[in-house]
Amino acid sequence: MENFRLHIPTDIRFGKDRLGELPEALAPFGKKVLLTYGGGSIKQSGLYGKVLDLLVEGGFEVVELSGIEPNPRIESVREGARLIKEHQLDVILAVGGGSVVDASKVIAAAAYYDGDAWDLVLDSSKIGRAVPIVDILTLAATGTEMNSGAVISNLETKEKLGTGGLQLIPRVSFLDPTLTYTVSKWQTAAGTADMLSHLFEQYFNRTEGVDVQDSLAEGLMKTAIKHGPVAIKEPENYTARANLLWTSTLSLNGLVGRGRNGGWTCHAIEHELSAYYDITHGIGLAILTPRWMAFCLDNDSTTHAKFAAYGRNVWGISGNDDETVAREAVKKTYDFFKQDMEIPMTLPEVGIETKELVPEMSQHAVRNGGLDGNTFVPLSVRDVETIILNSFQEMTF
Ligand code: NZQ
Ligand code: ZN
Repeated sequence: MENFRLHIPTDIRFGKDRLGELPEALAPFGKKVLLTYGGGSIKQSGLYGKVLDLLVEGGFEVVELSGIEPNPRIESVREGARLIKEHQLDVILAVGGGSVVDASKVIAAAAYYDGDAWDLVLDSSKIGRAVPIVDILTLAATGTEMNSGAVISNLETKEKLGTGGLQLIPRVSFLDPTLTYTVSKWQTAAGTADMLSHLFEQYFNRTEGVDVQDSLAEGLMKTAIKHGPVAIKEPENYTARANLLWTSTLSLNGLVGRGRNGGWTCHAIEHELSAYYDITHGIGLAILTPRWMAFCLDNDSTTHAKFAAYGRNVWGISGNDDETVAREAVKKTYDFFKQDMEIPMTLPEVGIETKELVPEMSQHAVRNGGLDGNTFVPLSVRDVETIILNSFQEMTF
């Protein structure tokens, strides 16, 4: 296990009927609030009205930034920073999914930055002071509610890039599973795929002796695999929604990833699909992941043991031959996404019909994600092309 630092200052308020705590949670940061949200789901669910009532009753001054996009765009970030500067706001209250929270994080830093907000996405070392963030999360997926990262898109330059800083970690996160009841089947499936992918990205790694992190990852994977399909069939099943929500938070708050050394793979490739085609992050990951797993097994026999451990410990596959167990585990993963989570598992089904941009996206993925460096299996541009091209048709086993 490597040396590590894990600093998570987020005050988690998990469970139902806790919204009354909001004024007390916000108060230490000031009275002037930037309320950020997305395209309207919080108005449809009635959450917006409840939050606003609490803020008004509590004597808070509220300025709103609405319409933050899924795959949040730099234009929204610029607008949020402008509002904070203009109205001298003290704190951001982000109400929504990962996109709203991510945009709020970069807004928080951009409010104290003199240049263009995109600089902070290109170079996280430029992130200095930041406005504190409190959030009310409405979708289980990203883990942004307890971590320092944010992912922002620039459609002009066709870039979707991650940035982050300790100053951006939310100070208080309200995690109420009942707020996720209205999440669509599609977004529930995408969210489940996203949390699983976060676990895969950290678990398929070469650092030795990380038994704590590996067993946490396997337990969290099993939990997502158990409760994802229940939430699809019974959207108001509290136990399923609660377990998914807490799994998503724990999957990317550092518990699983710290103490290891090595980069991620599928996220860098998916971020290119989203940058060029604006597809749903978790759906792109579900499509790419089994192809990446199969690529690893086909091209690097030293990966067989770890994939076999995944097969045995997560899927309960028996057998002594690592490669056989590993290949069965890839099939289980694929079938889970396709059958249990009802995800269309080819790129044409999500609107990526032609192949001409594959070389460009592959080049960018390798460059932006450092995929040819310290990843589980280093990938060349040609390798990434193969993985994306294999995602155009159904997998056969
Ligand atoms: O915009 P509204 O109207 O709110 O609708 C949203 C949006 O259309 C809707 N939604 C959210 N909560 C809902 C709901 N609909 C009904 N009921 C609710 N309770 O769902 C749609 C998707 O929302 P979004 O916030 O985009 O989803 P998610 O939480 O999956 O966030 C995805 C973004 O996070 C980034 C992704 O790349 C993507 O841009 N990521 C952030 C990470 C991080 N900060 O650590 C890590 C991840 O790997 C990921 O890259
Ligand atoms: Zn993700």
